[in-house]
Amino acid sequence: MYRTHTCGELRLADAGKEVKLAGWVQRSRKMGGMTFVDLRDRYGITQIVFESDANQDLCEAANKLGREFVINVTGTVAERTSKNANLPTGEIEIIAKELTVLNKSDVPPFTIEDDTDGGDDLRMRYRYLDLRRNAVRSNLELRHRMAFEIRRYLDQHGFLEVETPVLIKSTPEGARDFVVPSRMNPGEFYALPQSPQTFKQLLMVSGFDRYFQIVKCFRDEDLRADRQPEFTQIDCEMSFVEQEDVLQMFEGLVKHIFRYVKDIDFKEPFPRMTWADAQRLYGSDKPDTRFGMEFVELKDLTAGSGFSVMDEAEYVGAIVAPGCADYTRKQLDGLTDFVKRPQIGAKGMMWVKFEADGSIKSSVGKFFTDEQIKAWGERAGANPGDLMLILAGQTAKTRKQLCELRLEMGSRLGLRDPQKFSCLWVIDFPLFEWDDETSRYYAMHHPFTAPNPDDIDKLETDTGSVRATAYDMVVNGNELGGGSIRIHDAALQDTMFRLLGLSEQEAQYKFGFLMNAFKFGAPPHGGLAFGFDRFVSILAGLDSIRDVIAFPKNNAGRDMMIDAPAEIDQSQLDELKIALALPEEK
Ligand code: AMO
Repeated sequence: MYRTHTCGELRLADAGKEVKLAGWVQRSRKMGGMTFVDLRDRYGITQIVFESDANQDLCEAANKLGREFVINVTGTVAERTSKNANLPTGEIEIIAKELTVLNKSDVPPFTIEDDTDGGDDLRMRYRYLDLRRNAVRSNLELRHRMAFEIRRYLDQHGFLEVETPVLIKSTPEGARDFVVPSRMNPGEFYALPQSPQTFKQLLMVSGFDRYFQIVKCFRDEDLRADRQPEFTQIDCEMSFVEQEDVLQMFEGLVKHIFRYVKDIDFKEPFPRMTWADAQRLYGSDKPDTRFGMEFVELKDLTAGSGFSVMDEAEYVGAIVAPGCADYTRKQLDGLTDFVKRPQIGAKGMMWVKFEADGSIKSSVGKFFTDEQIKAWGERAGANPGDLMLILAGQTAKTRKQLCELRLEMGSRLGLRDPQKFSCLWVIDFPLFEWDDETSRYYAMHHPFTAPNPDDIDKLETDTGSVRATAYDMVVNGNELGGGSIRIHDAALQDTMFRLLGLSEQEAQYKFGFLMNAFKFGAPPHGGLAFGFDRFVSILAGLDSIRDVIAFPKNNAGRDMMIDAPAEIDQSQLDELKIALALPEEK
């Protein structure tokens, strides 16, 4: 036996027991005639003591241990004289009797402790060492617990986990596909699924009624903190449901996870907000509702002053930052610089200070009377001591900029506590999105999303205004998941393809299998998918999904550890009948 206990297990009540432990040397310290070793495994850290008076050879052997050596120690549990209240095992230590080195270790490239000296790239290259650190490992433990609870909830509700293929044909989720060449069919390629969307709909045609899968999806898109090229979805689909059924079922899932994993009980139903209201009040389809600071529209109150920035703007919107009227010139300039950053793109920012004494200071005082400005404050519900920040311009763009400004103010004011959770359904998304560059409509969700039944008569005449039966679950400003009720009628699906600019042949070529299946009795159905990595990172209170994935890719889509992607042999290319046409510099 390598061990009788783990390194996280022993307590004062075990004093006097002879035990055997195995693990990694986190660090060792020599003090007088004693050597202390912190022995680590997945479960914790236990202090081992080697006393030279008692056994000089053993103590010398301990002095030779390097960081990350794998050792086996036999000894007696003893009460510690100087206890460590920060460690669960901090009241005891093991007085060593025997030591076996099971494996040596090179000096690790960074210290494997909570506060590591390793930079991002180094830790990615040696991810297997990074995973020895508490912080990263505990994220994966959380991930495991969540997956377990998700399966428990869905199983209790009659969902069957069904695997779907990974080598498929393109799925329409709006990103680029990763493709895999087929040796047996030269010149032909599989696509990796962006999601199992079409398969889960086929499973509904097959009568499976309730499907789920915790499944890898692949999207070749520009990466951000909350995006990886391969990521995991909790993918779900149900038959004979309307939107309300789906929302109830998966609100239940989210509440179940919070209850059993975070011990947080959401008693009230999650709020619901239409997409149009989310744009109007927060300038986003994924508003962070941990704090208020909703937008206030001022266009009508600012019109006709002769101030061209406001007069010529399609939209004038403001937020009120509570208690910020004492902002200095420098702080205000800092905010102006923030909104003028290229990635935000505002031309400038206007401000009003509603001073505590009732007076008004403003960057636009030349153009408006105090009475006029007071009316803005009244509309916004501003109190003495508050600061109003105003942006003007084209509606959609300005709302986006104001959204960034609101989030920035929320962060500055400490209103975005990662351990506070605010869940929201955003509903009534538009069905289509117009793209100026290509002069055509795209499906905002995907082409199988059903139009809102009340808007069907507008499909041909007022296409852009048709609402979808689509919904997103938003948590703390993150899109946690999204889905829709699907079209199950072949004729309506044909119309949809046509409105999306797909010819009959194209539609047949891409989705013929689904259209054919729909001819054999497709039940009404709908579903959604949660981003599992995002779900874990939100519960872990992290900004990036990287640290909840065991072996993630970096921002350039590379796996730094195994160094992928990589070139392949000419013989493999030949076999696949693939010739490369790389740009010169390669
Ligand atoms: P959608 O494209 O909205 O819907 O994806 C569902 C959820 O998956 C997560 N997600 C990602 N997570 C990490 N990295 C990525 N690159 C990434 N892309 C998406 C998000 C998102 O909300 N088939 C539909 C679902 C349906 O209609 O049932 C779909 O895939 O959290």
